[in-house]
Amino acid sequence: MSPLSENNATGDLFESAIGADETALDQARERVDELTRNLERWNYEYYVLDNPSVPDSEYDKAFRELQGLEARYPSLASPTSPTQRVGGAARSDLKKVTHAVPMLSIHTETDFEASGAEAFDERVRKALGTPEGEQIEYDAELKFDGLAINLRYENGVLVSAATRGDGIVGEDVTANVKTIRTIPLRLHDKVPEVLEVRGEVIMHKAVFERINDEQRAAGLKPFVNPRNAAAGFLRQLDPKVTARRRLSFYAYGLGEVSAPIALTHSGILDTLSRWGFPVAAERRVVKGWQALAEFHDWVKSIRQTLPFEIDGVVYKVNSLAEQQELGFISREPRWACAHKYPPEEALTHVQDIDVQVGRTGKLTPVARLEPVFVGGVTISNATLHNEDFIAELGLKIGDTVVVRRAGDVIPEIVRVLPERRHGTERDFVMPKTCPVCGSETFRDEEEKDTRCTGGLFCPAQRKQALVHFASRLALNIDGLGEKLIDQLLEADLIETPADLYKLTAPSLLTLERFGQKSAANLLAAIDKSRETTLARFIYALGIRHVGESTARDLASHYRSLEALMAADEQSLLQVNDVGEVIAQSIRSFFDEPHNRHVIEALLKAGIHWPVPQAEPVNEAVTGKTFVLTGTLPNLGREEAKALLLAQGAKVASSVSKKTDFVVAGEQAGSKLDKARSLGIEVIDEKAMLEMLNIQGGEKA
Ligand code: IVH
Repeated sequence: MSPLSENNATGDLFESAIGADETALDQARERVDELTRNLERWNYEYYVLDNPSVPDSEYDKAFRELQGLEARYPSLASPTSPTQRVGGAARSDLKKVTHAVPMLSIHTETDFEASGAEAFDERVRKALGTPEGEQIEYDAELKFDGLAINLRYENGVLVSAATRGDGIVGEDVTANVKTIRTIPLRLHDKVPEVLEVRGEVIMHKAVFERINDEQRAAGLKPFVNPRNAAAGFLRQLDPKVTARRRLSFYAYGLGEVSAPIALTHSGILDTLSRWGFPVAAERRVVKGWQALAEFHDWVKSIRQTLPFEIDGVVYKVNSLAEQQELGFISREPRWACAHKYPPEEALTHVQDIDVQVGRTGKLTPVARLEPVFVGGVTISNATLHNEDFIAELGLKIGDTVVVRRAGDVIPEIVRVLPERRHGTERDFVMPKTCPVCGSETFRDEEEKDTRCTGGLFCPAQRKQALVHFASRLALNIDGLGEKLIDQLLEADLIETPADLYKLTAPSLLTLERFGQKSAANLLAAIDKSRETTLARFIYALGIRHVGESTARDLASHYRSLEALMAADEQSLLQVNDVGEVIAQSIRSFFDEPHNRHVIEALLKAGIHWPVPQAEPVNEAVTGKTFVLTGTLPNLGREEAKALLLAQGAKVASSVSKKTDFVVAGEQAGSKLDKARSLGIEVIDEKAMLEMLNIQGGEKA
């Protein structure tokens, strides 16, 4: 009997209850449709997008429910049901590889307790006809939470590596796999002519955390968990990117082999280990189900100390002869099973909600929890992301909540239990001033985040601001990168960009690994940055939403820092491409006294720029807004823009009612259509050059 039919021993009752039968079948059909649709979508999100929207536990639950319904109502089982897949669909842009031996999945025991091990042992004994009093030998190992992979060696040389895909056809990821340092590219022992080694590609927790820090620093979305990060890097197209990600591999079995390499599963793993494959040390050869259950308990107790994530343990009948005898049931080996751990959730109280300020000024509410032990660690904080997240949870300070170790790494609050309220709970209010520097905060409606306006002054934002200030398109201070800025901050040598101009050789020499020469170079680079342009200076201030091109527009519009600092929102809105959000951000930046002080200090330190020459006024173009579109016959886009700006015109990137002229070249697209629909004058390059009093225009 298959494990499925065992689970559904009550099925017959339903089938025989004629009358009630029709409606039951209809209801089941509806539910099967719904489950199928959900599972298909989740599969797609998980395998193709590497971006799951539901926890594994929910997926597993739906999957099991569908399996159950299909077993109970065989007429509803379709060959295209999600339950008929071994894994997910292969990503279409990677080369396909047909596995020499299909990559199967294993049955998962749904009972988290010791009885899960007992149920497996019982099935094995029954199938083998093992007499009472005799015990089966098992190999017990970790269930790695990563991606299954097949490594094919021919004459000892790695020739291909493929993901599991749907179990029959996988994706060729050879180039990326070759960057995984623990995978041997060549074997030095005498190995079978054809040797396929199977195992799991995973990402260590420490690497995962580092990468997510990098993602966040770059303003990118962090990965959900190490497995998704590993999947993303394994299946992306540039091996150089994978190489930087430090993936790992652990072997747990074989695919096609031209000659047997051992008589037991543990023998296979021992041999693979000898040949240089990483095999996890946490595995045991044991007898009987009690020993399996003990292994399950033991691994649970060390789980959090492992450098990588696991989602359970795997039991395998050790003798290969017995494995053969046991065979397969519906694409799952009867000789193996996975025994997972329950989702790690616990109840606790939110004692308070604090606010942290990140490097970009973002205020993040953090729940301070009554410490609670979840999955081997004590959790006392959980991130709440932003105000909307708190509103969606419906969370109040003092609430009882369910917390979970998400992907075993970042604790999160899953839900609130409002039925446990006492009436003393209170709402969280986002502070109007920054808890670090006291500057005003504002809410970015688009991103739903609240930010500190302290900018250059706020210690939390200082580093980021300094890095930006020194960057190439800002004041371009050669050699002053993130590392050095860290060192300077740590040594208390600087606080704001203005302090850079007070640095001296003796103070720099106190830094680790800093010699005379590097000190002299840095000071020279800092000195050189004193002479700059107004546009660069504005950009260097790091005003939110003011990028390099907006800074240029502001500089050419106001022509002096004083004028810009004095401009009100109404005036700012007149500037090219400046809308309400940008205008507001500029205004609140300059309204912040701390920012004004830093600017003052910078000017005192000798930063200056040539006063923009008052250009001879060209009435035809001054103050007029141009939009360039298509390919011009002679001028490049930047060139044309520079010519227009030089004579007092404004250049915008999109057509609006404020546009005066659209300069159209070949293959002009939607901007041209928009200009026509708004009745805006459309001219060509020649006409533009005439307006600018520039001769010819034709290139030699
Ligand atoms: S054995 C025929 N051993 O779990 C048996 N699988 O459904 C083949 N997994 O995605 C699998 N750790 O990648 C086996 N120690 C282990 C494993 C393991 C993780 C994964 C495997 C597959 C799933 C099995």
